[in-house]
Amino acid sequence: MQRIALILFIGCFFSFVSHVQGQAKLPGAKSAGAAKIHNQYCAKCHGERGKGDGPTTKTLKKMKMTDWTNKPIMAKFTDDDLFKIVSEGGKAVGKSNLMPGFKAKLKEKDIRGQVTYIRSFSQK
Ligand code: HEC
Repeated sequence: MQRIALILFIGCFFSFVSHVQGQAKLPGAKSAGAAKIHNQYCAKCHGERGKGDGPTTKTLKKMKMTDWTNKPIMAKFTDDDLFKIVSEGGKAVGKSNLMPGFKAKLKEKDIRGQVTYIRSFSQK
């Protein structure tokens, strides 16, 4: 009886592991995480589609937002520029201090993920 329970347990364990691995291999899995972070932390200002039209921009009209879907404008930023702004905040690079730094909230790899996600808006 115990043996059956053990076999069942091992079976469950391996199917769980392969389930998790299967999820990690899904092509959209990484960007889905980035989308979630974007919607949670950034969309209120930058807008869900990156157009710079989040709800906060209606109350804080002095915020000058960049349209992330605008390719020529986005081409002026290097990935390192974007990374630095997201991690250190606008003020650290001489931009608006309304742009908060996220290095205390987000892991480095998630900030890199945001850079890729920001780029994706102008690559359609
Ligand atoms: C409270 C509003 C606010 C939030 C929340 C916010 N930002 Fe910003 N962000 C700004 C403002 C304002 C600027 C423009 C700064 C400037 O040009 O002076 C900016 C600028 C930027 C820039 C530089 C390119 C550009 O658009 O001018 C990047 C990259 C950026 N934000 C990424 C993010 C990411 C990623 C998040 C979420 C993790 C985020 N921001 C959250 C307000 C915000």
